[in-house]
Amino acid sequence: MTFKKKIVTCMASAMAMAVLLAGCGNSNNEQTATSEPQVTEAAEDKAEETAAPTTETAAEDEIQNKDASTMSLKEAYKDLFDIGVAVNSWQLADKKVLARITKDYSTFTCENEMKPDYLLDHNASMEAKDGMPVLTTEKLDEILTMAEDAGLKMRGHTLVWHSQTPEWLFREGYDDGKDYVDKDTMLKRMESYIKKVITYCQEKHPGVVYAWDVVNECASDNKGLRTDSLWYKVIGEEYIEKAFEYARKYADKDVKLFINDYGMTSPERRKTYTALVKKIWDQGNIDGIGMQSHHDRENFDVAQIETSIYAFSAIADGIEIQLTELDMHYNDNSEAAMKEQAENYKKLFDLLVNVDTKGHANITNVTFWGLDDEHTWLTGFKKETSYPLLYDKDGNAKPSYFAIIEAAEAAKAAQ
Ligand code: GLA
Repeated sequence: MTFKKKIVTCMASAMAMAVLLAGCGNSNNEQTATSEPQVTEAAEDKAEETAAPTTETAAEDEIQNKDASTMSLKEAYKDLFDIGVAVNSWQLADKKVLARITKDYSTFTCENEMKPDYLLDHNASMEAKDGMPVLTTEKLDEILTMAEDAGLKMRGHTLVWHSQTPEWLFREGYDDGKDYVDKDTMLKRMESYIKKVITYCQEKHPGVVYAWDVVNECASDNKGLRTDSLWYKVIGEEYIEKAFEYARKYADKDVKLFINDYGMTSPERRKTYTALVKKIWDQGNIDGIGMQSHHDRENFDVAQIETSIYAFSAIADGIEIQLTELDMHYNDNSEAAMKEQAENYKKLFDLLVNVDTKGHANITNVTFWGLDDEHTWLTGFKKETSYPLLYDKDGNAKPSYFAIIEAAEAAKAAQ
């Protein structure tokens, strides 16, 4: 076993399952955060001593014989694109977990801790003499320092989003009981917020945040733009272009700016984003498109992914494509199901490698939305245990892990 078997006792369930506002196409916009586990060392050791031997089939044997501790995703893909992972600060602070992160990944995204809900200080904003929003930066500084120390780059996620953004930000005096402000005031607040977050990161920890999801999930589930966003309601559809204009104004030259959304394989969204991104590209304010890539066993369709990658790449020469929140929901972790998942991941990575090496698309990062099946938002979101990632709940590499390594090796062999 690569990693010690862990007996995990969850914190109080209310804390452990803090429900946060999020997107991803559910009508309630609810997200379950993955929270810090408590590991009981004595129980951990006991479990190792008493673990019953298992009978393994030949296929399992083959997988068990591969030693993931001698492999590295980021090394396998180093000539192609960055491989990243979504994490929480408690994972970075845990030396063993951090070692797992740095073994396979060269970038990370904060699952939650860089969202407006986490960065905005309500009281300080209410008291601000200039009426502009004020940040709380202690946790942010801690995260940026850990990234810097570990030599990891970060995708900044996310500046402007309808979800996980406090409603008071849109109201007069930042007072929940008052009316929404007018468009000009909101544009000033937006510029101030974007400026403060971006400049804080680059001044305190230059070079760590190398890309920003400037606007997240601005498309409707049906057609055109999402209209139930307070950004849209208070500012109008111009808020998207303005957010990019401000981000470009304050971001260092080499920092990349992205628009990010789920459902990027739907024909409607493909159309919406192709037109929108073309406009912002022509204004010189965007570098790429983030395809979140939350897949389901049932709807995984590599042909649709390919069509979207080609459509987005045709917007402009060199436009970057990143898969920013990759996972694949399976509610079954039987050997057959995990083998099927591995085949799907292999198909996806074969495609990414192929379009990237042939110059059909400029893929620059693929980020998994979590480190292992023990810590995935999908189990809360789907209300059933999910097994979507590359490591199982005990930290053992799954068939999907080896399949993705194989896709990189096959590409090298073909050169
Ligand atoms: C969306 C957001 C992410 C995260 C996921 C669920 O995709 O972009 O920040 O909230 O939902 O974890």
